[in-house]
Amino acid sequence: MNILVTGGLGFIGSHTVVELIKNNHTVIIADNLINSKIEVLDKLSTITGIRPTFYQIDVTDEQAVESIFNNHKIDGVIHFAGLKAVGESVEKPLQYYYNNLVSTMVLSKMCVKYGVGKFVFSSSATVYGDQLSPLKEDMELKQTTNPYGETKAISERILTDTANANDGLAVSILRYFNPVGAHESGLIGEDPNGIPNNLMPFVTKVAKGQLSKLSVFGNDYDTIDGTGVRDYIHVVDLAKGHVKAIEKNESGVKIYNLGTGQGTSVLELVNAFMKANNIEVPYEIVGRRPGDIGSCFADPSKAEQELGWKADLTIEDMVQDAWRFEMNNK
Ligand code: NAD
Ligand code: UFG
Repeated sequence: MNILVTGGLGFIGSHTVVELIKNNHTVIIADNLINSKIEVLDKLSTITGIRPTFYQIDVTDEQAVESIFNNHKIDGVIHFAGLKAVGESVEKPLQYYYNNLVSTMVLSKMCVKYGVGKFVFSSSATVYGDQLSPLKEDMELKQTTNPYGETKAISERILTDTANANDGLAVSILRYFNPVGAHESGLIGEDPNGIPNNLMPFVTKVAKGQLSKLSVFGNDYDTIDGTGVRDYIHVVDLAKGHVKAIEKNESGVKIYNLGTGQGTSVLELVNAFMKANNIEVPYEIVGRRPGDIGSCFADPSKAEQELGWKADLTIEDMVQDAWRFEMNNK
């Protein structure tokens, strides 16, 4: 298939491009580089031996997006492009609603206009709100706590309504849990701008000595050691889930959790990192981070039954690959 990958130079998008090319798909990338670097395109060529066609455009720009549909016969779209910093979304709600919703609407419109059959969307476990894990796809969604989460919930509605009104369009909504790790080559990985918000990139920066210590946000949750529990998933496993979703879905709207089903606490992750990489990560326990929940992990059985997909890589793989990328990434 000819697959348009928006946000294809970002963290999850770049790993998905590798897996798509490995599965003989032709990839066209659209990215405005707001949170990624053009060098990733060279890294993708090195890893796969193929240089994907690249358009540096904003996917909220309808004319620019339409020119891609005019230049290529697109069979499927995987839509990663979006802004994703929860805290920033509270400070700049309109930027988040505009970017994340207009991009989804422009791409859906083009899929209908050009008869594209498949659309895969990056959603998030955040749409479940604070509910008891394991989380299942048929649970009622709760109001999320921030504009970022709302953009995911609203995008899910826009895509569901569009697919229901257009028989030819199959939509897969993928709800990611906590993607971490990096490609085994160490060439691509998570490289956020500024001080990381998320746990794993923060841990790698502390291990490297660029940040002095990790703040562990709370040890009074009702969890194994009191620290927050999440379902960490290796980004390469996540990427493979996208290939399955776009290859399998022939009709309607399908929603899948992409997680491992295993909860890991902050301290368990930090200890696994120190042990596997034989390096110290100084930390201190501080108060809870506003908006955090104690525990969040998936029931991933639907994706296994319907897509034949399940996560294979372990926490050890995740911490080793994340560290290899950090060391390579000067
Ligand atoms: P990322 O920031 O690394 O990648 C997003 C890419 O989209 C970047 O390359 C950025 O330059 C590009 N982009 C953003 N807005 C654009 C626009 N208007 N036009 C063109 N390009 C644009 O983020 P990621 O971690 O790879 O996340 C990918 C998707 O998955 C996002 O939609 C994100 O919300 C979602 N998601 C991520 C996580 C996570 O923890 N990483 C969890 C759940 C969902
Ligand atoms: N944590 C710390 N210290 C840090 C950073 C995080 O203790 O410096 C803790 C958090 O309190 C939480 C866990 O590590 O218990 C994971 O936190 P992250 O910020 O890495 O991830 P979240 O689960 O908070 O959120 C992530 C994405 C969201 C997405 C959500 C569900 O950032 O965009 O997963 O998919 F919505």
